[in-house]
Amino acid sequence: MSYLAEYDSISPANTLQRIQAVSKWIRNRDDVRAFFAELRERRPIFFTPAFTFITKYEDVLEVLNRDDIFSVRLNGLKMDEAVGPFMLGRDRTAINYHDKSLMRLVLAREDLPRVRKLVSKITEEAVSASACSGEIELVKNIARRVPVKLCGAYFGFPGPDEESMFRWSKATQTDFFKNITNDPQIHQEAVQAGKELASYLTTLIAQKRKEIADNSQEHDNDVLTRLLLAEFPDQLGFKSDRLITNISGLLVGTVETTAQAVVQALEQILLHPGIGKSALKAAKADSLVEFDNIVWEALRFNPINPLVFRYTETDTLLAEGTEREVKIPQGTIVFACTASAMWDSNFVVNADQFRVGRPSHSYFHFGYAAHECLGKYVGMVMIPEIIRVLLLQNVSLIDGDKGKIDFEGDVFPSKFMVNIGK
Ligand code: HEM
Repeated sequence: MSYLAEYDSISPANTLQRIQAVSKWIRNRDDVRAFFAELRERRPIFFTPAFTFITKYEDVLEVLNRDDIFSVRLNGLKMDEAVGPFMLGRDRTAINYHDKSLMRLVLAREDLPRVRKLVSKITEEAVSASACSGEIELVKNIARRVPVKLCGAYFGFPGPDEESMFRWSKATQTDFFKNITNDPQIHQEAVQAGKELASYLTTLIAQKRKEIADNSQEHDNDVLTRLLLAEFPDQLGFKSDRLITNISGLLVGTVETTAQAVVQALEQILLHPGIGKSALKAAKADSLVEFDNIVWEALRFNPINPLVFRYTETDTLLAEGTEREVKIPQGTIVFACTASAMWDSNFVVNADQFRVGRPSHSYFHFGYAAHECLGKYVGMVMIPEIIRVLLLQNVSLIDGDKGKIDFEGDVFPSKFMVNIGK
């Protein structure tokens, strides 16, 4: 039975069962591609009792471009309490416009070669510390650990210990992006994590300010120190609370996203016949452009998120002037299915094939338009570099269930065992 036939067979009165069915299909990577393909073909704008799926490439673009109508209001409701007013919880306000500009400046593009070298070194050290009897678990030992260490080495806040950094980032990511049913317990854990993170940062910032005052000549060259060295006039409103919120956002944004992208792209590279070999060759080349392109294409086969969600602020027409033109009522939660857009053959040529070097508009790994990822360029060196170091250490898949990415019932990957050095 097709997905839509199964959906339609559930009584419209049984809204819970209908929602549960679509939720299961978008969470299961064996279903999600086929489900989206069927929607693009038969019901590209698909209303369910809880949310509306937008699946065609051009409609995903329309939703994400129209941030005045399709807003991130729902993020704001959760984020404000946990980390304070943040760019990803606001549209067209001074907060997201100014803060993003400022944070882009201190995350300087010129740093990227240094970041790549740092990531390489941190990954090599993490591998040496964790490989055991020809096997290694990648999620905790590498894919989460490297971004946390980069928080210390580049963003300028190492955290009190690794476990707290893991817990803070996971609790906030889970609540902000995976807690669709608004479970109060999950939200409370994020609020608590945000409090602990703010308290840690307050102490660290006071220490750093003192170090800066005591030593006016030499300063650390990290993102937090750059912000502390900058002097902003009061009328810009960039005071300690804004600083803490934005620095918190670096941790929240970095860890689980990178970890998931690393394990899912690596698995695809190793699964696709012939790709592992060409990736290893490209990993040793002078230019890493080809290698990085392999990683982005691999991630397209299993992206970290099937979608980003938005809240509809006023009644509006979507896909106006096309056969599928439809009114989206105020209050609708729309799912801009970025993964579906990446598999839409009308815009991504031969989308079912593994093709290296696709044009950049084939990818939505880092979102699109107003809320495009702040850490995009850091992520674009960190993710491939971690994978490159692993491939150079001869990682390969372990046969059977033991070698599959395991979520252990959670919303993020939790375990991925691979062979190493064999
Ligand atoms: C490297 C460290 C990272 C940092 C500091 C970071 C931070 C952020 C921030 C602050 C935003 C919100 C931007 C805004 O509202 O204007 C954002 C958005 C986003 N990030 Fe990242 N991020 C990082 C890595 C990643 C990675 C590795 C991925 C996926 C591979 C990713 C995927 C996204 C996506 C899809 C969005 C858009 C969300 C939406 O439109 O609702 N990020 N990121």
